[in-house]
Amino acid sequence: MKVLSVVGARPQLVKLAPIAAAFAETEHQHVIVHTGQHYDADLSDVFFTGLGIPDPDVHLGVGSGSHGVQTGSVLSAMDPVLEREQPDWVLVYGDTNSTLAGAVAAVKQHIRVAHLEAGLRSFNRRMPEEHNRVLTDHAADLLLCPTEEAMRHVANEGLAERSVLVGDVMVDVCMKVRDDVLAGAGIRPELPAGIDPDQPYLLATLHRAENTDDPERLAGMLEALASLPVPVALLAHPRLVSRAEKFGLKLTQGALHSGRPLPYAGMVAAVLGSAGVVTDSGGLQKEAYLLGRPCTTLRPETEWPETLVDGWNHLVPEPQSFADFTSLATRAAPAAERGAPYGDGQAARRVVDVLGKS
Ligand code: UD1
Repeated sequence: MKVLSVVGARPQLVKLAPIAAAFAETEHQHVIVHTGQHYDADLSDVFFTGLGIPDPDVHLGVGSGSHGVQTGSVLSAMDPVLEREQPDWVLVYGDTNSTLAGAVAAVKQHIRVAHLEAGLRSFNRRMPEEHNRVLTDHAADLLLCPTEEAMRHVANEGLAERSVLVGDVMVDVCMKVRDDVLAGAGIRPELPAGIDPDQPYLLATLHRAENTDDPERLAGMLEALASLPVPVALLAHPRLVSRAEKFGLKLTQGALHSGRPLPYAGMVAAVLGSAGVVTDSGGLQKEAYLLGRPCTTLRPETEWPETLVDGWNHLVPEPQSFADFTSLATRAAPAAERGAPYGDGQAARRVVDVLGKS
């Protein structure tokens, strides 16, 4: 079997790591295509080196652009690659523009598509990710779902026959890296200047278009974070940096100290070292949950509702006008045990197995 993975953005590289490792244990051929949606070393290269992912076989180099330009560029650049490679499966990951373009390119050439992390829904039609994941699920031949909830969503949309519950590959990678960090592999995260790693701090990220692209909303969120009574390490995505510059907003102010995004192991170490997480990232909400740190999510909804159980995660769409934001963001970890809604850490092996048998 020959499987061609299409990746392009940071969270896809994290998911690719356990998949590439699982393929390496088999005779199957695995081809990696990097679309180039993310091109900064902080968002791309460090994930290949840090997570031991083989270099991409093909790099499309599409870069940034409007949704139409970015999606269209990947779509047209994929044509010759698929004609040449003729894979048995195209495997697409998550919900980015690279995901949708990879799926559509394959469908047009009658190549079977498998969607990893299928069935997630925010039901918020304003999110570009929601369009990408719904359209990709309906184009795909095989829906690889991470949770029971995702299975229910695809069943409600008439896609049950094409779906399989495999668990979440993020558990595979997160638990492995956590064990390395705890085993004292010497991983010290480079936290922003002004953050003392030996004193309590909160870890924050903010990158969603809904939060970063409106100047008033972004200013309000930054002020709310800056007024917290604990130092806040803000790991700034380039999108946040560019919007803050454009709107004349300071990313370092009050309690807020901004620095560069971290490689994956550094991120896991930074979560483990923190008192809690404040974020609008899907991946980080789940990493906080898996690593046992309370999370406050700056969005009106989440695709990972399992994290909300027992208060491990709380949704705060408007921290600037939410009176209890301070006590919520600085709350202690709940005493309740967490279940294992995201699987057993063997999802990637299951994915390879299901592809081989389908
Ligand atoms: C994309 C995904 C989002 C995912 C996120 C993870 C879509 C629609 N969104 O959002 O689901 O959560 O990746 O990070 O696909 N930029 C750089 N360097 C880079 C990449 C981006 O400076 O290497 C800047 C550019 O100003 C660019 C902006 O970030 O215009 C947005 O990049 P883009 O790839 O369009 O989306 P993300 O916000 O990263």
